[in-house]
Amino acid sequence: MADTLKENRVRPQPASRPFGGYEVVRSTNIDEELTLTDKGTPCGEYLRRFWQPLALSSQVSDLPFATRLLGEDLVVFRTRVGQLGVLHKQCSHRGASLEFGLISDEGIRCGYHGWHFATDGRILDVPAETKPGSYARRICHGAYPVLEYKGIIFAYLGPPDEKPEFPIYDFMDAVDEDCVPYCWPLDCNWLQVRENTQDPIHLTFLHSMFGIKQFGANLANAIPYIRAHETPIGQVTTSVRRLGDIYYIRINEMIMPNVARVPDALREGRAIPNNEADAVGTGSEIRALKYKRLVPSSHGMGLSMWVVPNDNENSMFFGWHHVPKDEPQAVRDERIRQVEHGQTRDRPYHERQRNPGDYDVIASQGRIVARDNDKLTSADLGVGVYRHQLREGIRTVAQNGKPKGLDVARQAPIPTYAYALVRSAPPLGSDAEEAERVARLEKEIVADLLAFHLPHTPRTLEPV
Ligand code: FES
Ligand SMILES: [Fe+2]
Repeated sequence: MADTLKENRVRPQPASRPFGGYEVVRSTNIDEELTLTDKGTPCGEYLRRFWQPLALSSQVSDLPFATRLLGEDLVVFRTRVGQLGVLHKQCSHRGASLEFGLISDEGIRCGYHGWHFATDGRILDVPAETKPGSYARRICHGAYPVLEYKGIIFAYLGPPDEKPEFPIYDFMDAVDEDCVPYCWPLDCNWLQVRENTQDPIHLTFLHSMFGIKQFGANLANAIPYIRAHETPIGQVTTSVRRLGDIYYIRINEMIMPNVARVPDALREGRAIPNNEADAVGTGSEIRALKYKRLVPSSHGMGLSMWVVPNDNENSMFFGWHHVPKDEPQAVRDERIRQVEHGQTRDRPYHERQRNPGDYDVIASQGRIVARDNDKLTSADLGVGVYRHQLREGIRTVAQNGKPKGLDVARQAPIPTYAYALVRSAPPLGSDAEEAERVARLEKEIVADLLAFHLPHTPRTLEPV
């Protein structure tokens, strides 16, 4: 009997008949390799090889800012002459939090007994210490390299000798766009948050079947054709939808290990302005559209999205809204308001039930999801590929190798691949003809897009 129970705990069982609730066993096993990120865990060491965002510039004012990243309690501050510091939060003396410290020109002084720390962790002053050459002046407090880029503060928490260059991707450097930073906290493990962008079918349901339709009314009932393709820095998950007499093609990108790029939405039935070529009408009048690429480009604006763990049960989205420079403020505010709908828990419960958003479906899965309960379908291809690539990266670092994403050609900006476009799609006779044409179109666009940026033979990833 004991053996049977043990067996059931590790092998989730679905019901095999109607009203079979009694038979269902859900696993409680979490995938520790992919989900746990404290120092010394395989995934924690992997994520530590990359620069990670940890605060908005606006959160670090004249006061220290306390936060947690990858399970480490940290304090972020700006000296009185403007230099940034990221230090372990607990004072080296007797552990008071430096969030109650006094900021100086050179660093921060602990609020308890006045130990004074430089931004690189050197101990500048140990008040009332009478022994010359005391060990306190010969040790360092824990500190990390830090830099600031367009309103977001990044730190490198990995081994000092492995510190990579800070990567500048093309979406961080587009001349005709502004980067508007955001931070959305979530009270669940980072992995279930990160997977959401490689799951394009949820646009048809979560974002289209309730009262608030974040991608416009067009997407309801439009079931996409979904594929995934490897890129030099990660993967793209593509989705092709028929909307009236056009195909709407979205290419969501994952840059390993934890940065996603999501293109902008169709707005009010029109194609994305920067991706239109030739004359454009509205709604069903859209005719004869071709796609064109923008170089350099963020390929349709939209969002960049890091997901970083605070700890194993809390995480944060960081990134930028990429918006046209010449956009009127009111239009920009409305665009951002629509995108941010449902990204955090800060709404009344019944409103969240009536119009759920990304936060509600991601966090409601549980604090750390036991993934062997999943029943993956072909629509989950991008998610499956991401898990596979993540495991590969984790194991590469564990064997002292260079993981995908770090091993990029040293060029600035680094090309990325997220994109959205429309193409004309006169109705075809049969479902089989339609399926064949969509498959051909998707393959052609991806091959073209990938070949354009880097010499690279695209490898289509098949469902497993
Ligand atoms: S606890 Fe910080 S100086 Fe004593
Ligand atoms: Fe979403």
